[in-house]
Amino acid sequence: MDQVISFLTTRRSVTAKTMQPGKVDPDHLQQILTAGIRVPDHGALKPWKLVVIAGDARARLDTKIIHPEFLAANPDAKPEVEAVETGRLQRADTVIAVISSPVEHPKIVPWEMHLSAGAVCTTLLYAAQSFGYAAQWLTEWYAYNDRMMRALGGTPGHDQIAGFIYIGEKVKAPMERTRPDPEKVISYL
Ligand SMILES: Cc1cc2nc3c(=O)[nH]c(=O)nc-3n(C[C@H](O)[C@H](O)[C@H](O)COP(=O)(O)O)c2cc1C
Repeated sequence: MDQVISFLTTRRSVTAKTMQPGKVDPDHLQQILTAGIRVPDHGALKPWKLVVIAGDARARLDTKIIHPEFLAANPDAKPEVEAVETGRLQRADTVIAVISSPVEHPKIVPWEMHLSAGAVCTTLLYAAQSFGYAAQWLTEWYAYNDRMMRALGGTPGHDQIAGFIYIGEKVKAPMERTRPDPEKVISYL
């Protein structure tokens, strides 16, 4: 118990920019996925889908979707800016896309289903970090790209990408980032 609260109060994301792909152990990945879909979900509607992007699929999506879509939207991008777009997903060993996919329900509103998708992202992130991997929750611009959504099997206009959970190797410990002042964000009645 002490270890869990200690982990939760000290864990930190390692940016995709600073991680190395490394190698995610397949058994760890299965445990991360198992934890990730065990989340609060009003009505047990399972209103989300997970897509594991690993191996060649990373380069395939970088080459066929992310880079060309970036160029189409930014034809005059500087070469060094464009270069980043050729290897986005290849910064990690494994990227888990979490698609929020609301279902029809007479009482439960889509907002709650999106919140549950956020819980999937958080839990995947924490599970990966609990194994000591570098991990980060990103959306970046391509979470809002229709071709990317279709390539992941989702439906633009209905589904939304809640996040990409990047998982790789930690090569250096991250610096602490600014954290909220409890007095400013927590009140007691
Ligand atoms: C929905 C969502 C999307 C995010 N997208 C980005 C992003 O596109 N780029 C980025 O630098 N950080 C993004 N972040 C922030 C980082 O993943 C992360 O929250 C931050 O680095 C600190 O995380 P930590 O509290 O785990 O250390 C996003 C966070 C959330 C919740």
